[in-house]
Amino acid sequence: MQLSGPLGSLPLPSFIEKRFFSSTMRERSLNIDNINPHIKEAKYAVRGELAIKSEQYRAQLAKGEGEDLPFDSVISANIGNPQQLDQKPITFFRQVASILENPGLLENEEVLESSFGYKSDVFERARKLLKDVKSVGAYSQSQGAPGIRQSVANFIERRDGYPADPASIYLSAGASSGVNTLMNIICATPQTGVLVPIPQYPLYTATLSVLNAKCVPYYLHEESNWSTDVDGMREALKKAQKEGIDVRAVVVINPGNPTGGSLAPEGINGVLELAAEEKLVCIADEVYQTNVFQGEFHSFKKGLRDLQKSDKNKDGKFDNVELASLHSISKGMVGECGHRGGYYEMIGFDPEVTAQIYKFVSIMLCPPVVGQCFVEMMVNPPAEGDPSYPLYRKEYDGIFKGLQERATALYEAFKEMDGVSCQSPQGSMYLFPTITLPPKAIEAAKKAGKSPDEFYCLELLDKTGICIVPGSGFGQKEGTLHFRTTFLAPGTEWVGRITKFHQGFMEEYR
Ligand SMILES: Cc1ncc(COP(=O)(O)O)c(C=O)c1O
Repeated sequence: MQLSGPLGSLPLPSFIEKRFFSSTMRERSLNIDNINPHIKEAKYAVRGELAIKSEQYRAQLAKGEGEDLPFDSVISANIGNPQQLDQKPITFFRQVASILENPGLLENEEVLESSFGYKSDVFERARKLLKDVKSVGAYSQSQGAPGIRQSVANFIERRDGYPADPASIYLSAGASSGVNTLMNIICATPQTGVLVPIPQYPLYTATLSVLNAKCVPYYLHEESNWSTDVDGMREALKKAQKEGIDVRAVVVINPGNPTGGSLAPEGINGVLELAAEEKLVCIADEVYQTNVFQGEFHSFKKGLRDLQKSDKNKDGKFDNVELASLHSISKGMVGECGHRGGYYEMIGFDPEVTAQIYKFVSIMLCPPVVGQCFVEMMVNPPAEGDPSYPLYRKEYDGIFKGLQERATALYEAFKEMDGVSCQSPQGSMYLFPTITLPPKAIEAAKKAGKSPDEFYCLELLDKTGICIVPGSGFGQKEGTLHFRTTFLAPGTEWVGRITKFHQGFMEEYR
């Protein structure tokens, strides 16, 4: 069975194929023409056809059937999935989690200490979390366990220097689930619009498609390290309003995905000014807040509180600005994507609206409780003087350093590549270089029925086993081409594979 799409025809994975043929099609209620059309419209390139093909190569190699392939391993540089790419979990987190799953271990503390290196603070933390959640097998409050929300509030206060209220914090099954909740609340009609950065992480456009609402794109400024151009945002907003779109919110991803761009306080203030003047909810996706390689991370919450405090014109302009800021255990040095944990803090929302949000999250019962516990450990890791601190620090710093080294190696390699230009790595887990392809390559892509960036990425996968994502999956300015790669894969050998491929590609199509 073949799957056809912008990358041409690909064989479907065998598990899908089996389902297609397991019973007669005629008896089914659902077919591709009568399901929710908005699901069909949604696009999510990060796990799209290139990713499917790379999994097929991986399976082929695992079965020992890869003799004909020009590579001996598949590198998944398409997705920010750190532990799939050999990032080791932080020991403290997993030791605590092991006790949460099996509290009986607390009856054997000496064995855990002497044979497995558990420290006393691991037992203390597990007891504290178990006291809060009772059992990780039990539902928690819909909004998340109260003690964990208190820990999150303490963390935000330490980070920003302003208090946070645990009642305004919602734990979630990763940031994705938080975005989904917020969008469900905001998107009231098909004319509701949300300002989304381009390029963007496709969660936003895909969720807006699913909810049959409008994405109002604003372009990031590549030449100045993918900064946010508030005038451009305002223009996009006005244009959308003229078309009858009711723009209700603005999304900012900081540090950016796929761009890695990090906002300075002035940039944050500019967006908050716009939100205040145009009555927009501000959604600050801050899942990469610890993946910062240049300068420091500045939170939207702190930016808003600073503006409210200074209130230069004494007109209360920022008083009712609605801000939802999101964080996750999936990224940073934690990288626990599979445990699905995150939180969002809601500031300035009408209590009647928050009551509806509470009802919405209650319909899903609660976020995964182990994921909630990981959130607690992320925001409250071992502190200096704690028995687990030295190892925690060593592991954390080691992961950070590794990411920074690989980001730099990749950036240096891109600098040397003909027709490639890349902004320096500032943050997140990605580089998003521009590629300028020769006319012959563009012609060849057209013949193959693919966009030029998809064609390039597919050729890279077929020749090297490296899976990256074409820029078109994130949105890019008309007439430009990009690709996104993570810098999570261990070692730097694979970087050499890219440079060699690129040289060959450019020579072939020159
Ligand atoms: C900008 C951004 N937001 C949200 C997410 C989703 O993260 P989570 O695993 O917490 O749902 C991702 C994942 O890559 C991301 O890049």
